[in-house]
Amino acid sequence: MKPGQVLRGTTTVPGDKSISHRAVLFGALANGASHVRGWLAAGDTEASLATIQTLGIQVERHSHNELTIHGGRFTPPDGPLNLVNAGTGIRLLAGIMCGQPFSSVLDGSEQLRRRPMKRIITPLRMMGADITGTNDRAPLTIKPADLRGIIYDMPVASAQVKSAVLLAGLFAKGATAVVQPGPARDHTERMLRAMGVDISTEGNRIVLSPNGELKPINLTVPGDISSAAFPLVAALLVPGSDITLTGINLNPTRTGLLDVLQRMGADMTVTETGLEAGEPVGTIRARHSMLKGVEIGGSVVVEMIDEFPILMVAALAADGETVVRDAGELRVKETDRISVMAAELAKVGAQITETPDGFIIGGPQRLKAATVDGHDDHRIAMSLSVAGLIADGETRVLDARCAGDSFPGFAETMAELGAEITVRKLV
Ligand code: S3P
Repeated sequence: MKPGQVLRGTTTVPGDKSISHRAVLFGALANGASHVRGWLAAGDTEASLATIQTLGIQVERHSHNELTIHGGRFTPPDGPLNLVNAGTGIRLLAGIMCGQPFSSVLDGSEQLRRRPMKRIITPLRMMGADITGTNDRAPLTIKPADLRGIIYDMPVASAQVKSAVLLAGLFAKGATAVVQPGPARDHTERMLRAMGVDISTEGNRIVLSPNGELKPINLTVPGDISSAAFPLVAALLVPGSDITLTGINLNPTRTGLLDVLQRMGADMTVTETGLEAGEPVGTIRARHSMLKGVEIGGSVVVEMIDEFPILMVAALAADGETVVRDAGELRVKETDRISVMAAELAKVGAQITETPDGFIIGGPQRLKAATVDGHDDHRIAMSLSVAGLIADGETRVLDARCAGDSFPGFAETMAELGAEITVRKLV
């Protein structure tokens, strides 16, 4: 990455990762053929797709991004199901597998094996599931058991935990209720409702009553706002830039970053253009802006939980102090995103103060080019790449291939908009 190139033009980003996981996992459970366009063909979602195929579900791949999933009964797998790096894949699938009449083992990469699973094991066991982890982590062993509905007061605002419990609820006797402490993304509720499931939301309480078979779905996955975040912030930071991204998912449980950037003074316009897969979709235009520091805490945190690495980069360019609280969940993502970002950005000269549940950044800070490391964490690698666009020289991001876990073509999209970014294969 080199600084100085203005970003201009109109483009879009690949399909939403959360919705793409759900489309294949729920499509596999449906009674019949589900058709999905705009599907995200990325590291994490391919792992979910491969898993349902291992479970005997037939998938027609019309193109990279267009699939027909012939849902129905699963067949027992020959060995462990490998979700690679996909936290969403393993946690949602765990809820589903607890309701199956055969045993399974769910596993993944070393990175996935480090992530906490007690948060799903606890409520699933309350439902009667026979699920054990290895020190409460993957691999997870699941055996057949009769499930019953529960009322679960979730200690963390996590869409993955909420979804695991609701999905197990599909196979349970009686209704399952989840009470969430904050507005975690609601793609599961929207998609299951579209598939005919009796699921209602009242405030922070979601109730699912199992009512038989899931109907197949037909959907076009909108662009991922979590991927859009990288070119958007880049355009805000690079003088002279003016970009427009179309077809982006504007689900209000996902747009926290847009609200925060606007509070920071970003020149950004958001226009809703319609609905896709039951989700609001629209266009976002972002122009270079002088940002100012901001205080972030409370319910907006879960609405932008994947965007804090890139927010850190924006905060470095902003005038004044940015203080983030209530974001301790960042420490249990693909990496500890507070510590890893603080350490990597320190290599480009940034000063970031870590706190247990957030960070403090004073700005603006000048960044000097350096070699940094993506830590096999897609959002870290892409955030550091954007930092490279405002550093004073050529920044190298090692281990950046992982960007493809959620945003295949990231470098190409940035280059298409005008950024000077090249990908080198190191052997
Ligand atoms: C996701 C939920 C979030 C998010 C992840 C995707 C989902 O995780 O960070 O990238 O698709 O349900 P948590 O549920 O752990 O907050």
